[in-house]
Amino acid sequence: MALIAVASAKGSPGATTLGLVLGGLWPRPVIFAECDPAGSDVAIRLPAIDGTVLDPQRGLLSLVAAGRKELHPGLVREHTQTLIGGLDVLVGIGVPEQAAALSRQWTQFGPLFADLAGTDVIADLGRIGATTPQNNLLGSADAVVLVVDATPSNVVHVRERLHTVITNLGGPLGTPVHVVVVTEPKRTRAVREVRDALERAEVPVRGVHHVAHDHRGALAFQGQIKGDSSRTALVRSAAPLVRILSDDTEARFTSVPDAQEVRL
Ligand SMILES: Nc1ncnc2c1ncn2[C@@H]1O[C@H](COP(=O)(O)OP(=O)(O)OP(=O)(O)O)[C@@H](O)[C@H]1O
Ligand SMILES: [Mg+2]
Repeated sequence: MALIAVASAKGSPGATTLGLVLGGLWPRPVIFAECDPAGSDVAIRLPAIDGTVLDPQRGLLSLVAAGRKELHPGLVREHTQTLIGGLDVLVGIGVPEQAAALSRQWTQFGPLFADLAGTDVIADLGRIGATTPQNNLLGSADAVVLVVDATPSNVVHVRERLHTVITNLGGPLGTPVHVVVVTEPKRTRAVREVRDALERAEVPVRGVHHVAHDHRGALAFQGQIKGDSSRTALVRSAAPLVRILSDDTEARFTSVPDAQEVRL
């Protein structure tokens, strides 16, 4: 089904947090897959649905071990866990050293997630650079979301990264790339400035969106504040982006026959 890749280019603008927000609001069944070679944050930050600690050993690494002979979509479910709130997550690797051990698998994760029956995947790729291994997933994504804060220097870095990413994804007619600017709810002028800067540089992105810089809202996605997060500025600001991304990828959800249809 649909694969949405969320990434950053510089700094820690809130890619993981946004990925969790997107997953929490996603209107179809979805798995949040941590594919950041820098290591998992979710297993450290958030409890499981029953209030216990997530099992850090069950996720991307156990999936790879189980799929040593053949890594196929039918295996993925067995390695997910459910977060408090109900979002299913494929916990990422524990430490960066483990990323190096997953050499050829980095090329397999993209097709694997894109071929899952009945479930979309939101993949947190972390910080992408020129040669980072998780770049391999970008080619299978139905949409790429690059998260940036409004710092001018970081916007420049994103612009440069976008040039490469968009070229590799087939140019303006290839995979749609969205830029999300995380900034104060009252500073949406920064979003316009980023949009203008990208237009001037002729970087063909599908959309430039605003997501609120909202400390309290973000803490809810780190398990530090309990209760209903749906009224936070962060969640409310992300809702239009969820609509755009889910509408844009709806056809992917229905166009892949499920396993039963294939057998008949
Ligand atoms: N929209 C937001 N508003 C305010 N604070 C935020 C927001 N998103 C994230 N944060 C905070 O910023 C910090 C980094 O967030 P997060 O881990 O989501 O960023 P990241 O881009 O995934 O970073 P990394 O590159 O380390 O993976 C956390 O303390 C988080 O609570
Ligand atoms: Mg992150």
